[in-house]
Amino acid sequence: MSDPRRRVVVTGRIPVDGIDMLEAEHDVWAWDSSDPISRDELLQRVAGADAIVALLTERIDGELLDAAGPQLRVVANVAVGYNNIDVPACRERGVIATNTPGVLTDATADIAMALILMSTRRLQEGERVIRSGQPWQWGMFYMLGTAIQGRRLGIVGMGQIGAALARRAKAFGMTIAYSNRRAIADDLAAELACVRMDLDEMLATSDVVSLHCPYSPETHHLIGAVELAAMRSSAYLINTARGPVVDEAALANALANGQIAGAGLDVFENEPTVHPQLLELDNVVLIPHLGSATVETRTAMATLAAANVLAVLRGEPAPTPIST
Ligand code: GLV
Repeated sequence: MSDPRRRVVVTGRIPVDGIDMLEAEHDVWAWDSSDPISRDELLQRVAGADAIVALLTERIDGELLDAAGPQLRVVANVAVGYNNIDVPACRERGVIATNTPGVLTDATADIAMALILMSTRRLQEGERVIRSGQPWQWGMFYMLGTAIQGRRLGIVGMGQIGAALARRAKAFGMTIAYSNRRAIADDLAAELACVRMDLDEMLATSDVVSLHCPYSPETHHLIGAVELAAMRSSAYLINTARGPVVDEAALANALANGQIAGAGLDVFENEPTVHPQLLELDNVVLIPHLGSATVETRTAMATLAAANVLAVLRGEPAPTPIST
């Protein structure tokens, strides 16, 4: 009888619970450094793999799938976004691609809400004042921000994370609009008391715009100079989705010229590089892709990715296949 243990390659460090699940049934090789694995090394390491557990820093394309070989059955991304995976190339080779929806919804919505609060209340500026040792004193007109109560939050992409942010923002007293390819279910729309708009109308009428759409060729630079010019000069842009959804150079210009009031960014066009002009600006909050970065969430992502691998290698349906 052939050995039922298969070869699983993990392209970066993941929480040990995920590794334990995989090792209980298969032979696992994992890249063990916090720096991303080099492309050359990855191309060599995947040779003969039956399953690849991928981080979002690794591009999984036809070249890599071919380097793995025809026995490859599954690529499990440890992320909900899967723009790093060439899904059609997987499909052509009969490889099932999976992601980790659901388990990071709350963590990411929390970060989006935090960025809304930080940018509208200027918390990043206040923190910098204290740390720099500059003199400061309570003052009636000192470092005033903007209230969000009664203001409109426009959500671009009303999936699970968009809806979770809407719930949070509603609890803070905001009203909700959204733009999405499809209308959301009536009961969800009623719960969130939200209205659907086309993107142009939403950009022109929202006080805060938050991005929650997947990144794809269709959403590349969805928010560019024209869209930023359409926003209110008092408005804020929040991005916890993917950097290239926004034209970062155009955003830096809009922030510098007062075309919009501020921005909160968790993701960047060329991570880990940040557009140098953004670094000079006070009215933008910059955090290093922390959307799902809690111990609990990362553990849940790793175990869901492992569950996807185990299911496919057992010949069972993957719990969370990428369906596009
Ligand atoms: C993180 O960015 C993710 O897509 O899970």
